[in-house]
Amino acid sequence: MNQNETPLFDALLRHAARQPVQFHIPGHKRGRGMDNRFRSFVGENALSLDLINIAPLDDLHHPTGAIKHAQELAAEAFGADYTYFSVQGTSTAIMTMVLATVGPGEKILVPRNVHKSVLTAIILADAHPIFLHPEVDCDFGISHGLSVETVADALHRHPDARALVVINPTYFGIAADLARIVEIAHSVGVPVLVDEAHGVHTGFHPELPLSAMEAGADMAATSVHKLGGSMTGSSVLNVREGMIDPRHVQVVLSMLTTTSTSYLLLASLDVARKELAMFGRDRIGYAIALANRARAEIEQIPGLACLDKRQLCGSATYALDPTKLTISVKDLGLTGYDVERILREDYNIEVELSDLYNILCIVSWGDSEDDVAALVTALREIAGRFRPRETKEHAPVTLPSMPELRMTPRSAFYAPTEAVPLQESVGRTMAEMVMVYPPGIPILLPGEIITQDNIDYIEANLRAGLPVQGPDDPEIRMIKVVKENA
Ligand SMILES: Cc1ncc(COP(=O)(O)O)c(C=O)c1O
Repeated sequence: MNQNETPLFDALLRHAARQPVQFHIPGHKRGRGMDNRFRSFVGENALSLDLINIAPLDDLHHPTGAIKHAQELAAEAFGADYTYFSVQGTSTAIMTMVLATVGPGEKILVPRNVHKSVLTAIILADAHPIFLHPEVDCDFGISHGLSVETVADALHRHPDARALVVINPTYFGIAADLARIVEIAHSVGVPVLVDEAHGVHTGFHPELPLSAMEAGADMAATSVHKLGGSMTGSSVLNVREGMIDPRHVQVVLSMLTTTSTSYLLLASLDVARKELAMFGRDRIGYAIALANRARAEIEQIPGLACLDKRQLCGSATYALDPTKLTISVKDLGLTGYDVERILREDYNIEVELSDLYNILCIVSWGDSEDDVAALVTALREIAGRFRPRETKEHAPVTLPSMPELRMTPRSAFYAPTEAVPLQESVGRTMAEMVMVYPPGIPILLPGEIITQDNIDYIEANLRAGLPVQGPDDPEIRMIKVVKENA
């Protein structure tokens, strides 16, 4: 196939150039029926591609033309047997992977630090999650992926599991020994579903961790929009035939997808795939070099430390995506959120996320030397303003313990509930999710028994100003628990 082609984008351009009289939705009709300020800012070109599934433009729900061709090119580029486009982000692609493989009462092996979309799908499917402990880094206060030993042990204890979910790489750019994990899971007939939200670029550069498809995984939900150059909300679901029926996957994805699919998002997937396939290696090489230079400079700043290859010490921390700059700021006596706010207010710099101990900055080929220099200079100044701790001991971190599951997430979600003060909820069964977003990993989820250290961790995140969300009560003073003796 010719990866230089962009069949869907070309079909849209040809259609727009004909300027047909449009008696179909969207009613803004190439922007003419829209707010003037919005139209002139966004531009008539973009609005002329905001179209729907009329015959010349194919239909994502039953592709036979330009979308089918674009998906086939993507499958070749990603090394998949089939690739399906998602206009609802990786969340919908993840829900599709889960709902296509597990049903009511069936077991699914899941690292506890998964994104909320995995847990949403488990509630929808009424599946039985077996939560696995990810490895944790007690210097940075973050969770990594699963070790090979954890996976092997879980498969041994649960030979009836219908699927294994793996996050690879993590938000912080750490990848496990995925090829080995896949080999072990396949040896007992369990398919491997990879949350590849942060790994679209991995298959396009030899210095990056293996991509899910390269490692032999069965499905991967991959955010092209995060690091692959397409528009926000556009992702792909890559599928390997064998243990998975691609036709069934397509049906499930279609069930979860709007019938009003955005052609702007679809076209941006088409062109991003072309860029990755044709120029990915050079562009990613540039981003790696830029990030490595920044990492080396930040490492020299007293009180700051960067996650790097020194943290790779086992099968859960097997490879690193160096374009992720995870910067520990705790030795400055500040939270990550404090530094995020200072960077925003004093330096006009926005980071990807912060937590109690770190900030995460994502470097891509869209960044310049000047952008990275501005970040390094700002961090140097901040470190100068807030003197680092004098002791050689690093500031301690706390991580919440993994809660115990008392009932399935779905039974808890649909059980009679009552609201109780967070502080008085120890020992009760959670009926809603609590998470910090980003990264969107639940601290507590429906069905889990609440412990004091979960409450302390929630309180610490709230005190730090981090975006804790999920419960009905946005202030999180009250939380919903399952009614006792109901
Ligand atoms: C690990 C992980 N998985 C899945 C998602 C969901 O991706 P999306 O925002 O494209 O729905 C995210 C989003 O931040 C994520 O960090």
